[in-house]
Amino acid sequence: MNPWYKSPLADGGYDVADYRSIEPSYGTIEEASAFITEAHKHGLKVIPDLVPNHTSEDHRWFRDAVASPIGHPSRDRYHIVDGRDDGSKPPNDWTSVFGGPAWSQLPDGQWYLHLFAPEQPDLNWTHPEVRLEFKEILRYWLRLGADGFRIDVAHGLAKDMRYPSLGKDTGDLLDGSGEVENYHPFWDRDELLEIVTEWRAVLDEFDGDRMMIAEAWIPPTRVPKYLAAGYHQVFNFKLLKAPWRASDYRDIVEQSVTAAAEVGATPTWVLANHDVVRETTRFGLPPETNSNAWLLDGPHSILDKDAGLRRARAAALIMLSLPGGCYLYQGQELGLPEVYDLPLDVLDDPVFERSGRTRKGRDGCRVPMPWTKDGIAFGFGESKPWLPQPVNWGEHSVEAQRDDKSSTLALYEQALKLRKDWCTGSPKLDVFDLGPDVVAYRRDSGLMVVANMGKEPIEMPSHRDILLRSGDGPGKVVAVDETVWIA
Ligand code: GLC
Repeated sequence: MNPWYKSPLADGGYDVADYRSIEPSYGTIEEASAFITEAHKHGLKVIPDLVPNHTSEDHRWFRDAVASPIGHPSRDRYHIVDGRDDGSKPPNDWTSVFGGPAWSQLPDGQWYLHLFAPEQPDLNWTHPEVRLEFKEILRYWLRLGADGFRIDVAHGLAKDMRYPSLGKDTGDLLDGSGEVENYHPFWDRDELLEIVTEWRAVLDEFDGDRMMIAEAWIPPTRVPKYLAAGYHQVFNFKLLKAPWRASDYRDIVEQSVTAAAEVGATPTWVLANHDVVRETTRFGLPPETNSNAWLLDGPHSILDKDAGLRRARAAALIMLSLPGGCYLYQGQELGLPEVYDLPLDVLDDPVFERSGRTRKGRDGCRVPMPWTKDGIAFGFGESKPWLPQPVNWGEHSVEAQRDDKSSTLALYEQALKLRKDWCTGSPKLDVFDLGPDVVAYRRDSGLMVVANMGKEPIEMPSHRDILLRSGDGPGKVVAVDETVWIA
């Protein structure tokens, strides 16, 4: 569950005003609690998204800080300091992930840090009360039945408290940075690992399987540290960022599986989330295209929709055959495309304004998903949703795909079913060389996966059975942009 807490919604709810209540326009705590109970009855686990790096400017702590005089201890829960020179310049040159300086000035002249929007002041994690409060927040949700947490911006919690200037732009989340190899004043600092260990102890106080996964944009060499500190998993965003190219897929799959095995963990896989252009669209663009920039700059005519969908389906069959945890983003199972042509005046993502209107932001992958072929919100609710759905949205709906054996929904359903028998055993992969444009490996179960990312069809290796294919063949060849599962 993306953040569902009380929030002014300046960043889709990643600006939390009260971590112990539900945003009133979504519902109530009682409904959230009933939802968790009901989900459990269906064998589903519920993992809320927790946002510890920053609060909303409407959080009582920040309000207190702003209302208190300079030097008051209530300011210490955030990073509130004097500016440079005569105080009229920000304390240093750090920039916000959403664009612009990472500091904003309070009316009395001091500055506060926000790695994201100004409405999202960063918490000071060296403050004992901050540490204590979040442990209580974890307990609160664990008692309500939460099965764990996705920890937002997990690599950002610790800051160099001397606030040194960086001397360069700190990079853009939307281009997947925050991945730094060496010293950085606010990304991926070792001090944050202590906090993780405290949280893990809290999770371990509770019965049942409770887990936490880090949203951390860090290099693979750093993942073992996060796991050793207490995370059960760390999102691996390699596939999400990779172009449709066999050599990239081969490297990522091999490296990720090996790296996880070395620390006795399981790898994770992500092809899509609420922060990137939907893969169905991404894969339809020429490989060198910056998809974030393309949303606004176009030209939209370079999009090859058919290729995009073909590759998205083929990529799904690669991902779902791999050992470890696969994370699907709502609508991915429908092959939903990015709504790249949302009119500028409906955009909700702070990225648009913060980037000086040079980036459209992430709304195009967040358009509410269609359940039914028609209706006011295509089954998403009883009124028009906060982002407009395209007129043909119903074609992609669950209703439209449910009885169609060739649909993307059917492909996901079959793959998930087969995955239980064929893909959950030993994480070992036997990799085969079937040419530079092919990804091919075998699981211990006897499942062989062949993905053809080249420009020519290839012959299928000898087999007993074709279990599933992302395309429609024909026969015993693996078509261009097709993945097959064979026994
Ligand atoms: C994470 C979320 C993103 C949010 C940001 C700030 O990266 O995935 O949606 O905007 O954190 O909380």
